[in-house]
Amino acid sequence: MEINTFIIRSLSLLLILSFVESFHFHEKELESDESLLRLYDRWRGHHQVQERSTERFNVFKTNALHVHQTNKLNRPYKLELNRFANLTSSEFLSTYANSKISHYQALQGPPGCNKNSSTYGGVKSLPIRVDWRKKNAVTSVKTQGPCGSCWAFSAVAAVEGINAIRTGKLLTLSEQQLVDCDTALNNGCEGGLMEPAFKFIKEHGGLASDESYPYVGKREVCCAKKFGKHSVTLDGQENLDGKEESLLKAVANQPISCAMDANGDFGLYKSGVYTGQCGHTNLGHAVTIVGYDETPEGVKYWIVKNSWGDTWGEKGYMLLERGIPEPEGRCGINRNCAIPLKGPNTPNKEL
Ligand SMILES: *[C@@H]1O[C@H](CO)[C@@H](O)[C@H](O)[C@H]1NC(C)=O
Ligand SMILES: *[C@@H]1O[C@H](CO)[C@@H](O)[C@H](O)[C@H]1NC(C)=O
Repeated sequence: MEINTFIIRSLSLLLILSFVESFHFHEKELESDESLLRLYDRWRGHHQVQERSTERFNVFKTNALHVHQTNKLNRPYKLELNRFANLTSSEFLSTYANSKISHYQALQGPPGCNKNSSTYGGVKSLPIRVDWRKKNAVTSVKTQGPCGSCWAFSAVAAVEGINAIRTGKLLTLSEQQLVDCDTALNNGCEGGLMEPAFKFIKEHGGLASDESYPYVGKREVCCAKKFGKHSVTLDGQENLDGKEESLLKAVANQPISCAMDANGDFGLYKSGVYTGQCGHTNLGHAVTIVGYDETPEGVKYWIVKNSWGDTWGEKGYMLLERGIPEPEGRCGINRNCAIPLKGPNTPNKEL
C-alpha cells in the first residue's frame, strides 16, 4: 500500500518534471536521418505528442538543425526544441501570435493621428533598471492557447499592473471578459487591439477577476453574471508616440502593453537577450513590458511578459533587446504601445 502510494507519487513527480524541464539534445543526434528520427521520437515522448508523420518529422528536423546552428553562434540568446518544434513558422504565427494588430490598427485609423504621450512625457529621471515583478505588480504567466487573444492578455497584464500599483493589491483579472464582451472593434480569438480594450474597461464599468470570469480560450457569449463583485476600473488610456524614450518613461512607471512582430525565432526562444532576426512591420503579436535592464556586457533589454505558458522562454518571459539604431525597435516593439490610466484616487467598483 505504502509502496504503491510512493510509486504513484514518484511517477507524478516524474511527469511534472519531464514536462517542466526543457528538452536537451546532443550534436550527435543530428548526424543522420535515423538519429534525427530517434530524436524526434524522444521529443515526442518528452512533450507527450501522439502524432507521428513524415511531414511533422520534416518540420521537426528543420527546426532541430536551425536551433543547433543558432545556438552555436555566439549570440546572447539561445533557442530550444520546445513544444512548438513540430510547427512551421507560419503555422506557429497563425495559431499563437495572431492578434492581427496591424490589421485592426488600419481599421481604426492611420497611425500617428491618435497618439500622444502626455502622461509620462515630463518624466525627467529614469531608474537604471525596473522590474515590476519584484514590486508585486505582475501576476503569474498565463496561457492563451490556440486563440488569437494575445491582445487581451497584453492589455490585462497592464491593467493588473496599474491596479496593483494604485491599490497595493495584485489581482488576477479576466481576459475572457474582453474576448467575449469587448466586440465593437476587437474580435475575440480573431485578434484585436489593446488601447480600445482599455477604453472598453473604462466605459463598461471595469474588468472582472479571472476567478469570476475564467479563461476558456474561445469566444463565447458575453455573460454579465460572471462580472462578479469586484471590478477594476480605469480612467482612460493613452497611445504612446512610438519613440523608445517615451516607452522607457512609461515602463518606469507601470507595465505597458505593446504589439510586436513575432516573425523569426520567437517561438523557439529559450533564454537570454533576443537580438535575433524578426520582422518589424507585421505587428501580429502583443505582449506586456514589465521592466528593463541591461546585461553585465552592456546589452540593453526589455523584460517581456508573454502568454504562452511558463514552460516557454525564461519561465514565460523573454528578454528583448532595446536601444538599437532602428527607431521602431527590435521586432517593432516601439511602434504600437498603449497605457491604461488609473489615478491614485480612482476606486474600483464593488457590487
Ligand atoms: C505538435 O506538438 C504538440 C505538443 O507540443 C501537440 O499537441 C500537437 O498535436 C502536435 N501537432 C502535430 C501536427 O503533430
Ligand atoms: C491624448 O491626451 C489627452 C489629454 O492628456 C487625452 O484626453 C486624450 O484622450 C489622449 N488621446 C488619446 C487618443 O489617447
